[in-house]
Amino acid sequence: MPKTIMLLGSGELGKEFVIAVKRLGHRVIAVDSYDDAPAQQVADGREVIDMLDGNALDSLVALHQPDIIVPEIEAIRTERFYDYEKQGIQVVPSARAANFTMNRKAIRDLAACELGLRTANYRYAASLDELRAAVAEVGLPCVVKPLMSSSGKGQSTVRSEVDVEKAWNYSQSGKRGDIAEVIVEAFVAFHTEITLLTVTQKNGPTLFCPPIGHRQERGDYQESWQPCRISPEHLARAQEIAGKVTAALTGAGIWGVEFFLADDGLYFSELSPRPHDTGMVTLAGTQNFSEFELHARAVLGLPIPGIELLRAGASAVILADRAGVDPQFDGVEAALAEPGSDIRIFGKPVTRPYRRMGVALMSGAPGSDVESLKQQAIANAAKVTVQCEDAD
Ligand SMILES: Nc1ncnc2c1ncn2[C@@H]1O[C@H](COP(=O)(O)OP(=O)(O)OP(=O)(O)O)[C@@H](O)[C@H]1O
Ligand SMILES: [Mg+2]
Repeated sequence: MPKTIMLLGSGELGKEFVIAVKRLGHRVIAVDSYDDAPAQQVADGREVIDMLDGNALDSLVALHQPDIIVPEIEAIRTERFYDYEKQGIQVVPSARAANFTMNRKAIRDLAACELGLRTANYRYAASLDELRAAVAEVGLPCVVKPLMSSSGKGQSTVRSEVDVEKAWNYSQSGKRGDIAEVIVEAFVAFHTEITLLTVTQKNGPTLFCPPIGHRQERGDYQESWQPCRISPEHLARAQEIAGKVTAALTGAGIWGVEFFLADDGLYFSELSPRPHDTGMVTLAGTQNFSEFELHARAVLGLPIPGIELLRAGASAVILADRAGVDPQFDGVEAALAEPGSDIRIFGKPVTRPYRRMGVALMSGAPGSDVESLKQQAIANAAKVTVQCEDAD
């Protein structure tokens, strides 16, 4: 029997997920705040609502009666998910996971206090005065983030006391919703940042993908590569931590568990209860199943006999440089000409400066030098330029 899946958030990650579940024979209603979002273009049905509006969500759920609700973004009235679970609808990975990961405090308290995991030293602050006190305790440099935000919005690094007020104001302009409180974290001088894609299953053990390395700029990832070489000890520890956090949050699906690796060891940072943007590197065929195929199987309760690394790979983002509509892509042929190269164009109807419009993928034999694959992905991404019309 085909299942009806309601996808909440219809970006590029949702689009690949829709393709994966469609290939397994299921129906998807793709929801977003604007029409013709990437995942809507490949789904069976679409809806446009404000997903922070709980009543609008309730109406859609009542209308479509989905078997499964799959959140693709954080900005959703996730409190309603508990009700949907009570109604017998499967929420992915679980109402608890989606609700906790919306708020950095819930996750940090779970990781650091309840599970005793090592994180950057941190404090919370709900006003400028509290922020001054928190910065004094955590020490400089430190990173200030709104409790509710994603993609680096409202996040800044405080390097001296004169930055504190600016950081407070910036956090208030970038926060989502009306919670003013911020987290202040000691700056971790990491040499490597990794995502450990972790799959929790209904009927099977928790599985781990080979670690993905990535580089961030302006709050968004720019390049990712797989496998990211880390010591067997750090890998074992990262898997143990990812296993613990995902078990505490409960449910089935893929998770992107983020870690910093510094000279003094591994730090847990945060996690996404869904495919991770850095995991788009798996679209280069690095694994026997992409992160979207893994999510689809885990969500549907289908077997995953194992995760294998088939190739080494890298991804580099293709960004717009200005605001406009009807984007056209030049240079696609040049980017696809090299062996091992592929691209994805997301199909977003509108551009903005730095908006991610596509991704360049590069793969090589399993033992290839990922640094050189990354350089090739960057070069291929640079060949693709986004042309657009001025919006009127
Ligand atoms: N304590 C820290 N020390 C050093 N760098 C940090 C720290 N916290 C965050 N960063 C940097 O900022 C990036 C974004 O931070 P974080 O993942 O907490 O925010 P986010 O807004 O949830 O991002 P996303 O939603 O894109 O995952 C991190 O990937 C890392 O590069
Ligand atoms: Mg992050």
